Amino acid sequence: MRSLHPKLRNIRVALLTALLAIVSPGLRAATPAEIEKKIDALIARMTIEEKLGQMSQKVFADLSDKTKEEIRRGRWGSLYSGGTPAQKAEAQRIALKESRLGIPLIYAQDVIHGLTTTFPIPLGQAASWDPELVRQAARVAARETAAAGIHWTFSPMMDIARDPRWGRIAEGFGEDPQLASRMAVAMVRGYQGDSLEAADSIAACAKHYVGYGAAEAGRDYNTTWIPENLLRDVYLAPFQAAREAGLATYMSAFNNLNGVPASANAFTLRQVLRDEWKFDGFVVSDYTAIAELIPHGYASDAADAALKGILGGVEMEMVSTTYWDHGKELVANKQLDPKLLDQAVRDILRIKFRLGLFDAKGQYTPVPAAPPAAAALETARKLAAESLVLLKNQNGALPLAQSIGKIAVIGPLADSARDQLGTWAMGPTDTARTPLAALREALGAGRVVYAPGLKNSQDESHDGFAPAVEAARGADAVLLFLGEEASLSGEASSRAYLDLPGAQEALVNEVAQAGKPAIAVILAGRPLTFHNVAAKAGAVLYCWHPGTMGGPAIADVILGKLAPSGRLPVTFPRTVGQVPIYYNHLNTGRPAAETGPAAEEKYQSKYLDVSFTPEYPFGFGLSYTTFAYGSPHLSAPRMRVGDSLTVSAEVANTGTVEADETVQLYIRQLAASLAQPVRELKDFRRVHLKPGASQTVEFTLPSSALAFHKGAQLVTEPGAFQVWIAPHSSAGTPGQFTLVP
Ligand code: NOJ
Repeated sequence: MRSLHPKLRNIRVALLTALLAIVSPGLRAATPAEIEKKIDALIARMTIEEKLGQMSQKVFADLSDKTKEEIRRGRWGSLYSGGTPAQKAEAQRIALKESRLGIPLIYAQDVIHGLTTTFPIPLGQAASWDPELVRQAARVAARETAAAGIHWTFSPMMDIARDPRWGRIAEGFGEDPQLASRMAVAMVRGYQGDSLEAADSIAACAKHYVGYGAAEAGRDYNTTWIPENLLRDVYLAPFQAAREAGLATYMSAFNNLNGVPASANAFTLRQVLRDEWKFDGFVVSDYTAIAELIPHGYASDAADAALKGILGGVEMEMVSTTYWDHGKELVANKQLDPKLLDQAVRDILRIKFRLGLFDAKGQYTPVPAAPPAAAALETARKLAAESLVLLKNQNGALPLAQSIGKIAVIGPLADSARDQLGTWAMGPTDTARTPLAALREALGAGRVVYAPGLKNSQDESHDGFAPAVEAARGADAVLLFLGEEASLSGEASSRAYLDLPGAQEALVNEVAQAGKPAIAVILAGRPLTFHNVAAKAGAVLYCWHPGTMGGPAIADVILGKLAPSGRLPVTFPRTVGQVPIYYNHLNTGRPAAETGPAAEEKYQSKYLDVSFTPEYPFGFGLSYTTFAYGSPHLSAPRMRVGDSLTVSAEVANTGTVEADETVQLYIRQLAASLAQPVRELKDFRRVHLKPGASQTVEFTLPSSALAFHKGAQLVTEPGAFQVWIAPHSSAGTPGQFTLVP
């Protein structure tokens, strides 16, 4: 059967499915109309308690007699995190067989960048600029998650973040709406597969809806103020793209958005999500976000919080219990229209039906936990390798020659399995392969001298410095594994300083005394500031938290088996004082100049004590080869609204190593009724080029890609545009075209 041609295989599957549908209608997927009928029938029989139960989610902390009894009563629609596979199977059996209406539970978990196999943190995945590989990784995560009896992941997080102080920048795809949208869609497709009902598909959850990444001062959970045009063009864009890709659920965020908490925000949750985008899945609140409407100063007490959460459009309450506690009295008092409960339950049940939880998929038989499969590890290694960004490479300091004598491996992150997995790592640490282990394997243990220097990234002690300097003296090259440990990024892990924590910079200074060529390999959950360290190193490789296979991926790049190909998904500041700094900003009336007489002008938008430019721009990353870009060629100098242009450029590998280049298409509208950013990414493509080879890289630019929001309205305004095909957001010479009515 395996050798069947794919077309024949499809026909065979279709015939079998049709046959099955005839002999046993219960076994084929229900049509949308049939699902709605089943939901009608259930809702007609449900008590108000059973409805409020569906709208409630708690942590699966135990399967005590009390919990069993609650499940029997229909007290919970969903359990998340915790619960062994056997407990999941038993709790579900009780829900299906012993509750009055047999409504299954939906099990959720935070599978953010893999379950057993840990992939790079999402920010690292975004640095690959490879949506197809990100989709494949999410597919692996879906398989592992479904096998563990979990139906739903609280991922992807797609919060645009322009502030590296915010610890959760690690969990998203960076600062750009185009890149983040492509990554978000890739993850949704990976998790949900072709059909939610498939045994290896799980429901995705787009979070945190919305604006959470714009937290003032980068302090987690903080207030956000986002004008509607920016909200729609930047912050909502990935959420909308995910919706268009068939996303099953959203999670409402913790933040206050323009005065109204995002978890009670009828504008974003009802008007945008339901009326405009026609979303028909359900919305879960973030953890206790409904009860938090009280400290937000938006609800007076728990009953008011429940009322405002439901009116706002949040259908399932995570952890806090205001819906359950007060829903009935709110209906009895006529404060709450019971139709809103029916609507919420309908949306929740719809996803349960689509997932097939009422059928075979609901009846889970636990399978023994398995270590990561070889193919999963291969995908993890590939994605980790593609996420590595080479920021500096003076005189070809990297790659190291495989014939090199001895290397000194120094620094707190060379051999920390837990830390390389990053925030929200669910998988085991014993399968994680560290850089130290991978380098020893590649070079032989005798050629690798290890002296960490510091116990962890925050260690202030200089006690370990002497052996590190000693190791450096005896080596032909020094690899410094620096950065921040996993616990310094992620939720509630904002930082006001972005420098390397602990005594890392002092360690680098000491080791530099040995006078050996040094390479900085930085593992972190955010952009850090490390100017002095970079100045002392011949090369800087930025690795994010690269996951289970981070070690081998880093070794492959350091030893030149692979050319680095990651590109920055976020701008790197020179110092925290420049934050927020992002490439797609407005120009101001007094834009600063870097060079020429204008650079001497005082009254420009800049600083007295540091350059206004970033340390490394968005989209930037070096390779072991060099690429040359020809000027952009446009298919026409004018485009009509409704039409499209093709923009192309010759990209050549002018170096000596075969490598991938990520070719980036940017535009700028020079004048419009709302001033537009100095550049906006519109498309990108990875191309593989052999030394000496070149390729014409062509993009189609439809006029719809030039649209922007004026309030709620999407407009396309005729006028002059610049267009770049460039290696990053600060490079290239623009072409010009005019958009005409
Ligand atoms: C709070 C976090 O903000 C969210 O991202 C996560 O999914 C939930 N807790 C559930 O663990």
